[in-house]
Amino acid sequence: MSALFGRWALVGLGALAFSLPARPALAQARQEYLLTTDWKFSKGDVPDAAKPEFKDAKWQTVSVPHDWAIYGPFDGNNDLQKVKIEQNNEQTATLKAGRTGGLPFIGTGWYRRRLAVPGFRAGKRAVLLFDGAMSNAQVFVNGREVGRWPYGYNSFSFDITAFLKAGADNTLAVRLQNQPEASRWYPGAGLYRNVHLLLTDDVHIPVWGTYLTTSDITAQTARVKLRTQVEAPTGARPALRLVTEIRDAAGKVVATSTSSLAAAAKPDFEQNLEVPQPKLWSPETPVLYTASSRLYAGQTLKDEYRTRFGIRSFKFEAGKGFSLNGQPRKFKGVCNHHDLGPLGAAVNPAALRRQLALLKDMGCDAIRTSHNMPAPELVSLADEMGFMLMVEAFDEWKSPKVKNGYSQYFDQWAEKDLVNMVRRDRNHPSVIMWSIGNEVPDQSNPNGPVLAKRLQDIVRREDPTRPIAAGMDRFDDDFKYGLAPVVEIPGFNYKPHRYAEALSKLPQGFLLGSETASTVSSRGVYKFPVVMAKEKKYDDNQCSSYDLEACSWSQTPDEEFAAQDDLPNVIGEFVWTGFDYLGEPTPYDEKWPSHSSMFGMLDLAGLPKDRYYLYRARWNTAQPTLHLLPHWTWPGREGQTTPVFCYTSYPSAELFVNGVSQGRQTKAKSDRPQTRYRLMWNDVKYAPGAIKVVAYDAQGKAVAEETVRTAGPPHHIKLSADHTALAADGQDLAYVTVRVEDAEGNLCPDAADLLQVAVSGAGRFRAMANGDPTSLEPFHQPQMHAFHGQVVAIIQASNQAGAVQLNVSGAGLQVGAMQLKTAIK
Ligand code: GAL
Repeated sequence: MSALFGRWALVGLGALAFSLPARPALAQARQEYLLTTDWKFSKGDVPDAAKPEFKDAKWQTVSVPHDWAIYGPFDGNNDLQKVKIEQNNEQTATLKAGRTGGLPFIGTGWYRRRLAVPGFRAGKRAVLLFDGAMSNAQVFVNGREVGRWPYGYNSFSFDITAFLKAGADNTLAVRLQNQPEASRWYPGAGLYRNVHLLLTDDVHIPVWGTYLTTSDITAQTARVKLRTQVEAPTGARPALRLVTEIRDAAGKVVATSTSSLAAAAKPDFEQNLEVPQPKLWSPETPVLYTASSRLYAGQTLKDEYRTRFGIRSFKFEAGKGFSLNGQPRKFKGVCNHHDLGPLGAAVNPAALRRQLALLKDMGCDAIRTSHNMPAPELVSLADEMGFMLMVEAFDEWKSPKVKNGYSQYFDQWAEKDLVNMVRRDRNHPSVIMWSIGNEVPDQSNPNGPVLAKRLQDIVRREDPTRPIAAGMDRFDDDFKYGLAPVVEIPGFNYKPHRYAEALSKLPQGFLLGSETASTVSSRGVYKFPVVMAKEKKYDDNQCSSYDLEACSWSQTPDEEFAAQDDLPNVIGEFVWTGFDYLGEPTPYDEKWPSHSSMFGMLDLAGLPKDRYYLYRARWNTAQPTLHLLPHWTWPGREGQTTPVFCYTSYPSAELFVNGVSQGRQTKAKSDRPQTRYRLMWNDVKYAPGAIKVVAYDAQGKAVAEETVRTAGPPHHIKLSADHTALAADGQDLAYVTVRVEDAEGNLCPDAADLLQVAVSGAGRFRAMANGDPTSLEPFHQPQMHAFHGQVVAIIQASNQAGAVQLNVSGAGLQVGAMQLKTAIK
């Protein structure tokens, strides 16, 4: 994060004024408040709840971001859908219990809050900005409706100036309503993203009021064009002056510009600045600059606005593919839904930061925000940590996928939704492309390309600097009805076997694997015999971590790797998915209690599955990967065939079972793509003890080794945290991995002990998860069964500096203990 801002100071907004006590002058021009505390919440529709005099004392007190449904209980009747999932090639409608997660998000909910607006008086403007509200938001101030916004994923704002009373208490009320059969995954419920109150002068820069682009980038200079919109009451447009300073990441001013506009002129500024010796933004070097603009009428400071940006260039070229800052590269991307596992949809920057750190270590450099607008915090973190984003708008256009999905709003709202999406995020260097849709059923009618052109025109009007993609899954229809040649970046979902054919037909001259793999697995679960399978189902509702199981329409990772490596002009992939998410428990869509997905490289708790290392071996070119599977604790399998796989960045390795060589394997092309990307010993017979792999580099030198041992009985609990020094901001989180180990420190890979978490001091227990897609244990209770030896406990810092003591216990196990520290930052 830029040195200009404090730790959580205001991710996501161009205008960042209120948390800068060092610059009191700003506070006079613009104040911004996050409305996080003191909300009252009630589930169900309540007549008169919008009225100021309504008595809400008995309602629950909550803080926002808040997801009303994540507390459960899980129930297969929540949003039970009788559907035929067309994109899964289903022929008949069947009952799907966990499709949207089995959590109680359907129905109406109300939020109310006192709205104090200090300093509000004649000549001031007040705006409410919602980062996202799930869904069908209706916003009331002092009993009067100020506006509504149906799409739960988008950001929107309302000017509430005319609704406020100066010098008095005001009342804010928000009604939200989620329909059944409106989603294909868990959407969350409520005010699950932040709500901001902005107070400015009458003459001010509106929400998302700047548009900054960079061009003509050389080693010596980069041109920065900053367009700044100003709003002023009609008939009262004074002469204005805009003073802009660009600062580098160290806070040094590197360019300035002052522009003036005569009274009554159309108050839009365009400033052109030059940054000398620009440091370029890339995933590997996420360097950021900030343009700070001060708006004056005469000598009076009217507003200040900050636009954080990066300097980078990119191209998508026919016959060449994608390049960033002149360097050709392929997207090493993942698709992610927005939920944060046990936190549900309630956004938390620390949770996002941990996700991105795990993806970064895997070598991932890109994220597709499937299939909707992300939280602004994610976009800001992607700027800071270095990820390229495909920001996506819709999962359907005019033709529905689900009965009450976005198609009902499409005609009236698509343009408004696209405009907000683009204006909010178009200054972010991480955003490399927009996506107008995922697998829309309109692929299969002649209107599809017509709609695509219309949507692309809107996006291009708002931002001509980025190309526009769509994820397509109906290959033949995409050419028959003409969507594929129209979309600027043709993205294909699960079609590596048809890339060559597509490239021969596409005028664009390249294509993207917009959604790939959908391999399914459960962390720590291995099934025998080890065979490639589609739609494979087991009695325990789990999938095997040998990474050979996929859906009827999808593949193992290796099949996509081969197509990516063998075909020029395939510009990378976005794997479905980085993390498991709530809902879509394919292949167990019909088998409650399955309620979360199995597509992730990491499970719902954020623990890596084996597949994480298969991608890491390919994507992380800075650090070696050497990973063995399965675990080696198989009482009862003695003498039985138990294949051993090694996911490694090294070209070859030798496997030993209890010191006896099983031979050396080298990655090589064969009729199975797996042999190119994994080392596999398929005939190993299980014997307790240890498996060891010795890796060789390209010169044949033994360079690394890895051992997995048979575990003894569970003995103690081992804790490790993603970080132990937390900000005392009431928000920061530590993710503590809890392992059941034997006396020697080996993971007990089948341990399912009930573990109890106790937290005291300057923090509290927030939630926990074990990654089991069938577990009905609530996330917010401080106890849970280990799943294959592990759980993750999430501890939240309080506002007090101090120590947090964490103890985790389980019957017959030595207690695991750990101390975290919180400090005011
Ligand atoms: C795709 C779809 C995703 C997800 C995935 C599961 O068809 O775009 O949203 O459903 O399948 O494999």
